Amino acid sequence: MKRNILLIAVFVLSQFATMQAQDAKSDSYRMKGYVDALMKKMTLDEKIGQLNLITPGSGIPTGSVVSTDVENKIKQGKVGGLFGVIGVDKIKQAQKLCMDNSRLKIPLIFGSDVIHGYKTTVPIPLGLSASWDMKLIEHSAREAAIEATADGLCWTFSPMVDIARDPRWGRIAEGAGEDPYLGSQIAKAMVKGYQGDDLSKNNTMMSCVKHFALYGASEAGRDYNTTDMSRVRMYNEYLPPYKAAVDAGVGSVMSSFNEIEGIPATGNKWLLTDLLRNQWGFKGFVVSDYTSVNEMINHGVGDLQTVSAMSLRAGLDMDMVGEGFLTTLKKSLREGKVTQKQIDDACRRILEAKYKLGLFDDPYRYISEERMKQEVLSAARRKAARDLAAHTFVLLKNNNETLPLKKSGTIALIGPLANDKSNMLGTWAVSGDPQMSIPVLEGMKNVGGSSVNIIYAKGANISDDTLFAKKINVFGTRIDIDKRSPEEMLTEALNAVNQADVIVAVVGEASEMSGEASSRTDITIPESQKILINALSKTGKPLVLVVMTGRPLALTQENSLATSMIVTWHAGIEAGNAIADVLFGNYNPSGKLSATFPRNLGQVPIFYNHKNTGRPSGPNSPKFQSNYLDAPNTPLFPFGYGLSYTSFSYGDISISKTNPKGNEKITASITVTNTGKYDGEEVVQLYIRDVVGTNTRPLKELKGFQKINLKTGESKTVSFSISPADLKFYNHNLKYDWEPGEFHIMIGGNSDDVKMVKVNWAK
Ligand code: BGC
Repeated sequence: MKRNILLIAVFVLSQFATMQAQDAKSDSYRMKGYVDALMKKMTLDEKIGQLNLITPGSGIPTGSVVSTDVENKIKQGKVGGLFGVIGVDKIKQAQKLCMDNSRLKIPLIFGSDVIHGYKTTVPIPLGLSASWDMKLIEHSAREAAIEATADGLCWTFSPMVDIARDPRWGRIAEGAGEDPYLGSQIAKAMVKGYQGDDLSKNNTMMSCVKHFALYGASEAGRDYNTTDMSRVRMYNEYLPPYKAAVDAGVGSVMSSFNEIEGIPATGNKWLLTDLLRNQWGFKGFVVSDYTSVNEMINHGVGDLQTVSAMSLRAGLDMDMVGEGFLTTLKKSLREGKVTQKQIDDACRRILEAKYKLGLFDDPYRYISEERMKQEVLSAARRKAARDLAAHTFVLLKNNNETLPLKKSGTIALIGPLANDKSNMLGTWAVSGDPQMSIPVLEGMKNVGGSSVNIIYAKGANISDDTLFAKKINVFGTRIDIDKRSPEEMLTEALNAVNQADVIVAVVGEASEMSGEASSRTDITIPESQKILINALSKTGKPLVLVVMTGRPLALTQENSLATSMIVTWHAGIEAGNAIADVLFGNYNPSGKLSATFPRNLGQVPIFYNHKNTGRPSGPNSPKFQSNYLDAPNTPLFPFGYGLSYTSFSYGDISISKTNPKGNEKITASITVTNTGKYDGEEVVQLYIRDVVGTNTRPLKELKGFQKINLKTGESKTVSFSISPADLKFYNHNLKYDWEPGEFHIMIGGNSDDVKMVKVNWAK
């Protein structure tokens, strides 16, 4: 009987799977038919028009060019899509212009940088990644999609998955940090969140993974700079998150500004066709970055016609802003520099994307005033943003249990970011309104209630350097240099401290000190704030530093002066409330760093999954070892690090088998106990070292993690299943396989503090 039921179940399931496969087949058959018929009607100009993505310039232009004559081009069918148009009314107007005037009425696709939330801005991506919570991250992308589509958009230029190991690079803020495994999990979660299970629904949007590829490895951390690395490094360390996004079904890919092996990514055939399409099986379309086709002229590979033809031939489908495709492809076709098929293929991919988004069924599908009113900045979404933000903060130090703060007594709330709205959203918050954000002072009052006395003083400017401030203030005032002198501000702050039991100083970077074109050669807190922190620490009162930043900072000095220190990134529209929730203990911090915090800039690039070298540094740093004369090799705070108000203890690892063979799976388990006074969450991390290989292997690599909840006194056993698939790597022949031998299996609460067992895995 049981067997029969089982057989029937298997039969029904297999029928269901077959039906689904057939459905997908017939869907793509229908799409092909539709696009074929449409393309038959299109002129060459109209086809080239589909490859043109422009911006009327109402968003944030990130290059020197903005598009002109947009209206006429739309009417003439010379535009495939628009970005930087924000708001349902404007999008409706533009779509109507296209539908009422263009010959074939091919709907426009509307894109935007919905990077960390839409109008309900959530923490910057580097912050989100510090939550190590894939459900929350997926949910945040889902929420962003619901809100952005309600305002007319259907395409987001996110996620940015560039691995970054150099905190000088300002765009480290936009990604998930330094690790390929964590980065891949996040890439997948975000694509799923944006795209949902059906792209044609009016509350899902097409995702665009960027910047393909290796953009985070720009030399000296200077934006747009050259990258160069071996393919072994590329395949093992930099490419996995892009691949994870492709495997998750991402609809589009954005090429990067940098060159790879001497060929700009935007015109790199190996990258865009051989790897992306042929090896990885990507079926969507590739868009350039902002004028990155034209910039190939500066790279030095030819004039506009040459670089445009080169990009199309390489596999680029859509040209962002530069209009090299629009203005030169016809000539290149005549001259035999590109083929009709290459133009057709690119056009087809863009039309297919529009088809999948349901735009041919209804060009106004994403345009609904009613939905906009209901969804944009809804109270529920703001509440979720507050909760999410609290999960991203990383507690770096907490002496004498200074945190959580008591909801009584007097707090001196000091610092240039303590009562600031303009910097809360962080970089790349193009649709957010800083004025709607909650500053820390307001959040502290909201959460602390009437029994806490809060005395606020600014204490210092973010920076006193007027030239620097001018560069930062391009999108509005972010560094507001006070009319008062630094001495006057400091005196006011010290007076406040005099009356207080504890100091909370909110310091760090302005939002535009990280992000695009915001590289720094100094990754410490600006001098004006260092002076303030020094003076505050001299008062002898407990000093809590709340550090807002878009990058790992070198916080060596601050760490020595502060009693407690917590990094809150740029936390979004609800920043102040979320920070207060954590400072007062309504939420116990659980974030862990996704990028190493160095002791000083000289250690950069610094990352946990490095190689051993032939002369690894010994305990006393003797001569002729791989080390520095003036600093240890170890960072200030390692990858995966983050404290809690409670404490966790780890037992020993128990392993199901120490001599596995072939494709066997083994289980590594560890018991974690909450030994402190608060309920809390802990990210339990699994690392593996492949001790001997035909290629040298990193000292450890993250291979799994689980975020668990433990009540005070509670223990939980966490198990990781490990199979040979987790041991695979690309060798010097780019063969992806595992090699038998000794492996160290490590589990712990950060990359530097782990328990270890050895396993010998035979083939
Ligand atoms: C950035 C991209 C962004 C694009 C459109 C470029 O400057 O590099 O990340 O998606 O502008 O705003």
